Amino acid sequence: MGATTVLGGTGYEPELVAALTRATEEAALAARAWVGRGDKDAADGAAVAAMRSALVDAPFDGFVIIGEGEKDAAPMLTNGERLGSGGIPYDIAVDPLDGTRLVAEGLPGSIAVIALAPRGTMFDPVGVFYMDKVICAAVGRGVVDIRRPVADNLTALAVASGKRVSELVVVVLDKPRHVRLIAEIRAAGATVTLVGEGDITAAVRAASGEVDLVLGVGGTPEGIVAACAIRALGGFMQARLAPQSPEQNLRALTGGHDLEHVLELEELVASDSVLFVSTVV
Ligand code: FBP
Repeated sequence: MGATTVLGGTGYEPELVAALTRATEEAALAARAWVGRGDKDAADGAAVAAMRSALVDAPFDGFVIIGEGEKDAAPMLTNGERLGSGGIPYDIAVDPLDGTRLVAEGLPGSIAVIALAPRGTMFDPVGVFYMDKVICAAVGRGVVDIRRPVADNLTALAVASGKRVSELVVVVLDKPRHVRLIAEIRAAGATVTLVGEGDITAAVRAASGEVDLVLGVGGTPEGIVAACAIRALGGFMQARLAPQSPEQNLRALTGGHDLEHVLELEELVASDSVLFVSTVV
């Protein structure tokens, strides 16, 4: 098991922070047993079970807004599930294992993660599994906009950061859907760092200024979890729901979602009193 990171948490009871830390550490440990075994669902299942059992007696009244796994029918902590032994009411977003394929293939980079925010403050994407994301440090606020062309955003961010576009590092998930996006970033002159899986970690790196920008479509659950970390770090994020098939599109529209609507960070998590805990597998 690797390092644990705690972001935010101001005003949270130390016992609760400790309980959540134990939960991510136990999930990471359980997943670790599956490293390199070629079975991502088993790795995910082990992490989910370990996290759930660690959270049952945690000193809070947790309501799962984001349970992970729905998009690929993997095991999950169910949306709407109540966790904890009672106490202060919180919304909870979990990703017991972000990077299931990495674990299955014996690759580094996966994490177990939990995020908390006051009850009623997390955006619930009901039934929409993917969102387009733009994430960077605070310098991007009022500078970068998801509605603008990639090249314009890179130029604006470079100016605001006091860098040349050629010095900007943009992290993108290495997926076929991003071929055009990657070409656009490179054509504008910036550097692309491709990651196979795991855009929560990428989001934390961007919000803390370790890389300049995260662009592209990733999981909606991961987007809400990341938004908590970004609020804790004072970073910038915008997102737009992005169904990836006609069926997903229909489901989103039937569910009443506006696919043009830009979700600002403050709508993704409407509080800066957040807590984000992650452990590297
Ligand atoms: P899982 O480990 O839960 O499969 O998520 C890994 C991940 O890379 C996320 O970090 C990312 O948001 C999402 O998958 C992207 O989905 P897809 O792999 O379907 O493009």
